[in-house]
Amino acid sequence: MEEKTKVIKTTTATTVTATTAAATTVATATEYEKYGGFETFGLSADVLKGVTEAGFTVPSPIQFRAIPVILQGKDVVGQAQTGTGKTAAFGLPAIHALKNTGQVELLVIVPTRELASQISDELYRLGRFAGVKTVAVYGGQSISRQITAINRGANVITATPGRLLDHLRSGRLKSLKPSIVVLDEADEMLDMGFIEDIESIIGYLPKVRQTLLFSATMPPAIRALAKRILTEPVTIDVTPKELSTPKNIVHRYYVIQEREREEALARLIDTEAPKKALIFCRTKKETDSLSTTLISRGYAAKALHGDMEQDQRNEAIDSFRKGRFELLIATDVAARGLDIMDVTHVFNYHIPFDPEGYIHRIGRTGRAGKKGLAITLLTPLEFKELTRIMEVSGAKITYEEIPSIHEAKKHYLTEFAEKILSQPIDDAAVQLFQSLSDGLDATQIACKVITILLNDKKTVTGPSKIGLSAKEVERMMNVFSRRTSFKSKWSRTKPGTGGGSGSGGGGRRTGR
Ligand SMILES: Nc1ncnc2c1ncn2[C@@H]1O[C@H](COP(=O)(O)OP(=O)(O)OP(=O)(O)O)[C@@H](O)[C@H]1O
Ligand SMILES: [Mg+2]
Repeated sequence: MEEKTKVIKTTTATTVTATTAAATTVATATEYEKYGGFETFGLSADVLKGVTEAGFTVPSPIQFRAIPVILQGKDVVGQAQTGTGKTAAFGLPAIHALKNTGQVELLVIVPTRELASQISDELYRLGRFAGVKTVAVYGGQSISRQITAINRGANVITATPGRLLDHLRSGRLKSLKPSIVVLDEADEMLDMGFIEDIESIIGYLPKVRQTLLFSATMPPAIRALAKRILTEPVTIDVTPKELSTPKNIVHRYYVIQEREREEALARLIDTEAPKKALIFCRTKKETDSLSTTLISRGYAAKALHGDMEQDQRNEAIDSFRKGRFELLIATDVAARGLDIMDVTHVFNYHIPFDPEGYIHRIGRTGRAGKKGLAITLLTPLEFKELTRIMEVSGAKITYEEIPSIHEAKKHYLTEFAEKILSQPIDDAAVQLFQSLSDGLDATQIACKVITILLNDKKTVTGPSKIGLSAKEVERMMNVFSRRTSFKSKWSRTKPGTGGGSGSGGGGRRTGR
């Protein structure tokens, strides 16, 4: 309680750094007892109804800290790990502040179309009892339909910079006077690719406004830049110093030769059998070519990147959300903010461009306290980038050997056996079994059925050995560590065991 009071009394630019164990995604019962639930913030009954309907009972650390400060009308820079509820942290107090003037009162700016659509939906879900009328504004969709929806009395707009600027410059959005402006994924919005658009947009907005910046990463240079658009901001950072990725994510890396990427990925997918995995590539071309290869090899996969038609993008993301296929192969267009239920694995087919990219990409799994596995493929030439990721993020990324074809097959059969053991028996199966029992005994029936199933399933293929062995990597590390600090961080586990986690920054990438 004491710290909360300290925040409330803040009157000038202040940094509030969480000192409690803020690493958890949603708060623990102890924190709940200490701080109280959502009702302690003084949010209206209609807003609280949205919270209850969303199933939130305990505010997350960033929500504990940020909501009271935003309710006071202060500018805020909020930083918290991926998947820890930053959307509601800015969304709930902003919705509470709506006066329903018939004008747009809240503007949220985000880097991608998919994120605009998701955040718009989330704000509607949380605010529908409080009269929230949302419109998502992004490219690839009808301009006139967006303007009509806004003119019908929208009070909340979630937009990507390009389309928003287009509306503002053309005069189609004449009086956009939001009292609250949020830059979600703020470090990316203020980085090279977007900063000019953002500055132009700000030029159209009222000078007197509340501005909120949120992200899981906030490199110092961007933080300095942010001051230009903020007034006496309060910084709320609940990221533990030593670890800026959620602790429930396990990180592994595998060392391969460049030519082995596809085989290595296929082997790891076969061994891991992920229910829902995001596979990140560096370019649109690579994304297309990898998805074509994986589909032709029998995997259920789709691509997502910025050159696809909007309908195709929507279809890919919607059906992935619904679990209709297992592998979404994407550029960094899917790296930030996307909240897709139960993503079990994130694969870095290519190591990301910067540590911040790593933090956001792998943050698509392990959300809201769930477990996740982050797997990175790298060639010996990419070790330096891995070292940098570990230094910036604090993540403990452990080496593993790629399973041999023999190990992969064994693993595959074990999984299959587990599936048989946990399978409930339905009536039609019992009837069929009885009709077959006249000519065959139970063992014969079972073995025939298993043979059919195994023949139907995609089998593990590829060379016996893929990637560098533990010994080869160790030898290479000895050379590498003479020049760098990498050795101390290098750790090795047996195939199939996994390892630690870590912390980090935000970034800008191209070709999404
Ligand atoms: N207090 C809460 N209790 C339970 N679930 C919550 C709570 N707050 C948010 N969530 C859920 O947690 C998930 C992650 O939230 P959100 O997308 O806002 O994370 P984020 O911090 O913005 O992550 P990222 O940095 O990746 O954008 C969402 O499904 C959201 O509905
Ligand atoms: Mg977010």
